[in-house]
Amino acid sequence: MDFNNTAAMDYITARLGSEGSPMLAFGGDYNPEQWPEETWEEDVRLMREAGVNLVSVGIFSWSLVEPAEGVYEFGWLDRVLDLLDANGIRVDLANATASPPPWFSHKYPQSLPVTADGVRHSYGSRQAFAASSSDYRRAAAALTEQIASRYKDHPAVVMWHVHNEYGCHNQPDYSDGAAAGFRSWLEDRYGTIEALNDAWGTAFWSQRYTAWEEILPPRTSGTWVNPTQQLDFARYSSDELLECYKAEAAIIRFHSPHPVTTNFMGFNMGLHQPVDYWRWAEQMDVVSNDHYLIAEDTRKFQELAATADLTRGWANGKPWLLMEHSTSAVNWQPRNIAKAPGEMLRNALQHVARGADGALFFQWRASRAGAEKFHSGMLPHAGTDTKVWREVVQLGQALRSLAEVSGSVVTGASGRVDVAIIHDTGARWASELDSHPSVDASNVAETRRWHDAFYRAGIPTDFRQSTDDLSGYRLVVAPMQYLVTDSGAANLDAYVRAGGHLVVTYFSGIVDENDHIRLGSYPGAFSGLLGVQMEEFFPLRAGESVELSRFGDGSFWSELGQPTTAEVLAEAVGGPVTGSPAVTRNAAGDGRAYYVATSLAPEGMAALLALLCEDAGVEPLLQNLPEDVEVARRSKEGTDWTFVINHSSERVQLPISGLELIGGEDLGGALELAAGSVAVVRSPRSPSEAQ
Ligand code: GLA
Repeated sequence: MDFNNTAAMDYITARLGSEGSPMLAFGGDYNPEQWPEETWEEDVRLMREAGVNLVSVGIFSWSLVEPAEGVYEFGWLDRVLDLLDANGIRVDLANATASPPPWFSHKYPQSLPVTADGVRHSYGSRQAFAASSSDYRRAAAALTEQIASRYKDHPAVVMWHVHNEYGCHNQPDYSDGAAAGFRSWLEDRYGTIEALNDAWGTAFWSQRYTAWEEILPPRTSGTWVNPTQQLDFARYSSDELLECYKAEAAIIRFHSPHPVTTNFMGFNMGLHQPVDYWRWAEQMDVVSNDHYLIAEDTRKFQELAATADLTRGWANGKPWLLMEHSTSAVNWQPRNIAKAPGEMLRNALQHVARGADGALFFQWRASRAGAEKFHSGMLPHAGTDTKVWREVVQLGQALRSLAEVSGSVVTGASGRVDVAIIHDTGARWASELDSHPSVDASNVAETRRWHDAFYRAGIPTDFRQSTDDLSGYRLVVAPMQYLVTDSGAANLDAYVRAGGHLVVTYFSGIVDENDHIRLGSYPGAFSGLLGVQMEEFFPLRAGESVELSRFGDGSFWSELGQPTTAEVLAEAVGGPVTGSPAVTRNAAGDGRAYYVATSLAPEGMAALLALLCEDAGVEPLLQNLPEDVEVARRSKEGTDWTFVINHSSERVQLPISGLELIGGEDLGGALELAAGSVAVVRSPRSPSEAQ
């Protein structure tokens, strides 16, 4: 079936209800192989009690279904799927390729990945394979063929789960196999060694190559390895893994019409983003994502919101699936802090508010053994007389009461999302390379600050790439677009000249796709559009700030320069860049382009946002949103569902009318929301708001 991200989520939700009416997905990873069979009856009884309607099965079962090469044992999986089907629980069936068994790694040691330091991984954890390994690919294809052909008509199965979190533990791989793959990828990209030498700037530090065989992955060297080599290796590594996904998905699609996905990892906050999800998303029938709170993040709910919005970007605005989150603590952070009462419901419904057509967890039953035994589950070690279980049952009820939301899209006050934030993977990857002006200049952190400003203001944001069609947005923000391709720069320029409003921040437009400086004044590609000529970066010391004439102080970064055609909205006051423009506005064509040459604190950002929204005609969903109260909206066929999530410790009152679906109460013009609570209000879309 050719879903192209449009109807695939509907295909799934339509199969989750007993009478064929769509239901939001609710459930999680189910690993019955970790438990004696007697436990399974209790599992399905409790799943029914909680209203579970979708479970992911078999993700880490390779060593059980193929105990020896070419020997398959499906008896237990047959029985599990039959039991789930008999109880009306649908299955997201894995092809089980995420964790090759010990027999495989023992027999094919060359299939194991190698670190930059030349250390070959051992087996004994998971994802112990190199994407370039032909042995791994052959074995994964054979296993996929077995599973897809055996279960293609099983009535419980409604979707396919390829692998698991690609690149989480084995990326990048610097093995000899990767070296060979990298060379052939480079030959395709550059054609000649001369073109590669130009692109990599190998005249620097005597790095000129004379033959393809000389080229290696960016393995550990005395100091910084060529940055373009590193960037190309990140691109290659993503593509190499994507080939694994495509090969397995193609086998499944040959046998079965059900949608195929693999679970993404959001921003992968604070870590390297191992693959380019924009490119990967094109290969998904349904975009699915895993999200875990960073427990000690003081605005973790906003980080969740940003990740959910980014996932919706990958899904091209269509409904997506929350494949994993946690009922409470995880096991992999320094301090694994349990969720407060009510936090799980807020988290799950935040994802739904931002376009997820369901909320699944890792995992159904908390493990007894293994590395994740302290990770929470839907069914905790302590059983059902627990906070977690009661909240799981409560969430199941809430999701049933919200079934009508499925298939709707996220909207803003105008009837569509008016603001886009640009988040190109290449800009992120390149900005994270070595030897830059300041370690504090972080593409992801600056992106999050801008998202947070809109979040606090109650203004929905989409995430887009610089090359996407942006014509539907009133305001576009490009936070630290350090690398911009020629086509991305031209697209943003054309967007402004056609009447758009574009904000560009510091350290943007600096390099081209080969990580070569765009010569002339900063910010390189955008200097003319923004009407500024900046000449020198003045990154700030740790804890230092630059005083501005308006919008508060700036952190991390400042710049020396001058306006050409731009109007200066704020300038630096004092210090080495005194008098340099810090926030500017420039008319270009029918639109306006703004430059922000430092990182603003939340108060200054809010003041700037008010000005930007006024200029661009962007309205919030609700005026004067109380602190730490989140609002989001989904819409379908003339109906709006307004989600209000109270993360604060105060009771709030908001001017919203309609039917509140979780409590079933008709609101007479005001919503009273207790601290920590969630409301979802259905209302007809007023004709003036309709597009
Ligand atoms: C990831 C994996 C799961 C599990 C969880 C734990 O999301 O996909 O298998 O390890 O992390 O948080």
